[in-house]
Amino acid sequence: MQNSSFPELNTPERTLLGPGPSMTSPRVMRALSAPVIGHLDPEFLRVMDEEQQLLRLVFQTKNELTLAIPGTGSAGMEAALCNFIEPGDAVLVSVIGFFGERLYEMAKRYGAEVDRLERAWGEILDPAEFESALKKKNYKLVALVHAETSTGALQTGIPEIAAAAHRHGALLLLDTVTSLGGIPVEIDRWDVDIAYSAAQKSLSCPPGLAPLTVSERARQALAARKTPVANWYLDLNGLEKYWGQPHAYHHTAPCNLHFALREGLRMVVEEGLEARFARHRANAELFWEGLEALELSPFIPLEYRLATLTTPRIPPGVDDAETRRRLLEEYNIEIAGGFGPLKGKVWRVGLMGYSSRRENILLLLAALDRILHG
Ligand SMILES: Cc1ncc(COP(=O)(O)O)c(C=O)c1O
Repeated sequence: MQNSSFPELNTPERTLLGPGPSMTSPRVMRALSAPVIGHLDPEFLRVMDEEQQLLRLVFQTKNELTLAIPGTGSAGMEAALCNFIEPGDAVLVSVIGFFGERLYEMAKRYGAEVDRLERAWGEILDPAEFESALKKKNYKLVALVHAETSTGALQTGIPEIAAAAHRHGALLLLDTVTSLGGIPVEIDRWDVDIAYSAAQKSLSCPPGLAPLTVSERARQALAARKTPVANWYLDLNGLEKYWGQPHAYHHTAPCNLHFALREGLRMVVEEGLEARFARHRANAELFWEGLEALELSPFIPLEYRLATLTTPRIPPGVDDAETRRRLLEEYNIEIAGGFGPLKGKVWRVGLMGYSSRRENILLLLAALDRILHG
């Protein structure tokens, strides 16, 4: 076979302004290309240890059990659910978008009796509604999405929801895929028991690792299980013995992804959490101002609009797919369309991590202006 029929890979450099992946900084890409070393090499174990310390800083937690699951955000979601659900457990899931729906679907597959707390896509729940639902049953776990990437809504009141869950003896599980590293996530202060995220959004790393943190309360629940965790690969009992002493082989760690994540986390800590959140907010506001000038109205009200992901409404008469195709082909910019009930109604624009820069925003606004107004 001719080598020339399979030319060398030549991936375009896109301006990634969709819901993820975000752009990766050159520093992260350099770390990614470091030499491959063994998963039990003392140098690699040192990298993992530092990665763990950095993850605690970024999650704002002292949780001992804090690590990065091999796999994308959905693997983090699986790990967060499978370790704490035994068949027949009662679980309450807030479903207000595509990822709440995924939590519901996964929890059912682990044999939980799952109840849904629902709202129309684009809305959020009041903590009092969790409290009322919690009175009805002895739930073991309450699961919700902090930043719903399908709608652009931020679920506020997490400390109140966590307190309500604890008053009723339930654990609180929070999906922070589209929040961690871009907007405040305070695991200890909010008293969240289980949280996971993904490397490729506001942490600006390539996809493939899912940060996860587990409180002492949740660890006790894990220790008290009567049945083995249904998913061998994501069983925290095994993963914990690899990340900590005795560093027993569990899987062949994707070492380069860990090098990249360590660098991405180092960049978060170097910038400072407060400064980073302020940058994401200021850039989101710049984008919102620009949208107003283009007469594109955000779908989510300002009070609970995400700084990391905006969902402008698609004006009547504008072709969703054609606009996105032109952005990609003519301007090299990726944004995404809506899911489910929001398909054809909104675009999804992510301003996360290394993508959250003024020059990217001005480029997108100018490109949209030319496409929409000629
Ligand atoms: C809120 C949320 N949860 C979970 C996921 C799943 O992550 P992944 O696509 O990395 O598996 C995503 C992905 O966009 C997400 O936005």
